[in-house]
Amino acid sequence: ATSLLLLLVTVYGSDSLARQNATLEQYIMAESKKVNQRYRLQYHVAAPVGWINDPNGFSYYKEQYHLFYQYYPYEAKWGPMHWGHVVSKDLVTWEYRPTALVPGEEQCFSGSAVEVNGSMVLMYTAHVVKEGMPVNQSQYLAFSDDGVNFIKYENNPVIPASPNNSPDFRDPKAWKHGDYWYVIIGSKTDDEIGTVLLYRSKNMIDWEFLTILAQATSDLGYMWECPDFFELGGKHILLMSPQGMVAQGDRFKNLYQTGYIVGQFDYETFTFTQETAFQELDYGHDFYAAQTIASPDGKRVLIGWFGMWETAFPEAKDGWAGAMTIARELVLDSNNHILMKPLTAQSSLRNRVSLQSNLKADQVLELEPASEVLIEADLTQSINLLLEGRSGGGKAWLKWDPSVGKVVVEREEGDVRQVEWSPGSNKAWRLFLDTSSLELFCGDGEVVFSSRVYPLGGWKLSNLGTQAVNTTAYALKRSVPSYNSAMGSNLKIFN
Ligand code: FRU
Repeated sequence: ATSLLLLLVTVYGSDSLARQNATLEQYIMAESKKVNQRYRLQYHVAAPVGWINDPNGFSYYKEQYHLFYQYYPYEAKWGPMHWGHVVSKDLVTWEYRPTALVPGEEQCFSGSAVEVNGSMVLMYTAHVVKEGMPVNQSQYLAFSDDGVNFIKYENNPVIPASPNNSPDFRDPKAWKHGDYWYVIIGSKTDDEIGTVLLYRSKNMIDWEFLTILAQATSDLGYMWECPDFFELGGKHILLMSPQGMVAQGDRFKNLYQTGYIVGQFDYETFTFTQETAFQELDYGHDFYAAQTIASPDGKRVLIGWFGMWETAFPEAKDGWAGAMTIARELVLDSNNHILMKPLTAQSSLRNRVSLQSNLKADQVLELEPASEVLIEADLTQSINLLLEGRSGGGKAWLKWDPSVGKVVVEREEGDVRQVEWSPGSNKAWRLFLDTSSLELFCGDGEVVFSSRVYPLGGWKLSNLGTQAVNTTAYALKRSVPSYNSAMGSNLKIFN
């Protein structure tokens, strides 16, 4: 009789949870239809309505990729965090799924996903606020057997506090090695120095603190957010997003940075021996809190938040704010530098029609809002290309200056990001344009820029330089359908 009662309670409990979620999904579906389409991205995951930031829980489960994201559905600005959810078979074409985590007494901050005995387990930071003041960050779990509906673990938190009880203790990234689960968590010391803490567990529930995996040196910031740790090219990469780094010349010009340190890791002593300084991963204006996955074919793939804290999101006027970058494969080169390349599957978005031209000085190319352009030019001479809206709006310049060997992405007048580029045998640029974004991949991905730009009415590419530039342009297919069309059988609507 007791177990029957328990069963009834469980069924009733999850039914009311589904009801509550159905109301939220109905809200998102209805509101996302009202969104002005002028800046709406066609092949980037973006907020259907409301605000998104960090990618979360990037994983492969039941034969598809899952990507979650920090989500506040009710306004196009940051608010109590939910986890939104999309799935994909190829990391290029995405479909929305119902909101995976909804805040309770806690806000659901960033985290990761792993598979344990056939179940999907999300590990995330519970951010607890009382009377408007943050009181605590601890680590929670949530489970799913279908990769769609999640139930929070009843004995949360599994890690209640950091060893020094820091108020900043967040963004767990978990992985399996040998017989153990490991997790790294971003935090800081009592005297405001960014750290990454390493734990391990036999069951994902009971965690043992092992060591401080890495700690900021003088100029690496007061807090390290969104750490990730993985093998690449025989080395270990610590990827993280430090807050509080000071700009040095061309470097670290965004409010916060995302970058990496290359080293060796020893699972016996838990020592990470660093071989490089911190390097930025992407040189654009809008790139942060990136997360990686080991794909089933052994590649290391990364997606970043295509945004930055405390910047204007012009699309917020239209009811949404924020997007994810396209997925990039990571490769470590012989100089301990990470190359970022678009996935092979990314080319599947190309429509057959391509526009090939030798774009002479002063000539203009008209492009669809979602386009890919291959650009080849003589690198002993300078390049100066202007991207702007066919009906006005935002602008950006793409430049190459051979006298200093720098690629420049300038947004509006004077908002410059630039970096030295030493091209290998591949000297071409691959430019991805979406309705309100650009991603520029130089050569084999030695240098990549991700920046949001807001043209109106599609793009126009003008050659302001002196040399003719070879361009091959493809219009791209939409690969992120609307929220509504994806929901179908995944959501039981109550009412
Ligand atoms: C990084 C971050 C994380 C946090 C989340 C909150 O952008 O600040 O540290 O978990 O965003 O939305």
